[in-house]
Amino acid sequence: MGLFSKDIKTMDDLFVHTLQDIYYAEKQIHKSLPKMIEKATDPQLKQGLEAHRGETQGHIERLEQVFRQHGAEVKAVNCPAIDGILEEADDLVGEVEDKQVTDAAIIAAAQAVEHYEITRYGTLAAWAKQLGREDCAALLQQNLDEEFAADSKLTKLAESGVNRKAA
Ligand SMILES: [Fe+2]
Ligand SMILES: [Fe+2]
Repeated sequence: MGLFSKDIKTMDDLFVHTLQDIYYAEKQIHKSLPKMIEKATDPQLKQGLEAHRGETQGHIERLEQVFRQHGAEVKAVNCPAIDGILEEADDLVGEVEDKQVTDAAIIAAAQAVEHYEITRYGTLAAWAKQLGREDCAALLQQNLDEEFAADSKLTKLAESGVNRKAA
């Protein structure tokens, strides 16, 4: 179903479609993280990615809860945006030979993923409120907060030396 498919008529349809989009994205992210974790050499980066993979599983479960609370079918729709981000990450990380440069590439790729998630959860939490679904908004906000925290940890890691070591 394309974004401007005739199946999307109301705000509620748009909300559910976007939930399906981020649900797909979270599952793809969860699948792709082990490869990044394996390639990462900085122990803090490795550990941070591992911890975020655990959080990502939690995001998937919270989304399932949102679907159920909203009375919608738990379903994923293809999200070409996250496929592109993950594909590019895979290419980039695979091409670099220097370990520290690899870490810098992983941080950059992981931040692109976090920013995608942040934009989706920001929108979804706002729409949930508009639709009078404070219960769904609260769950989406929890995911959003964890994405923000993951993103800022990556920034700190990059600034604290991973990028400098690579220079
Ligand atoms: Fe997530
Ligand atoms: Fe994330």
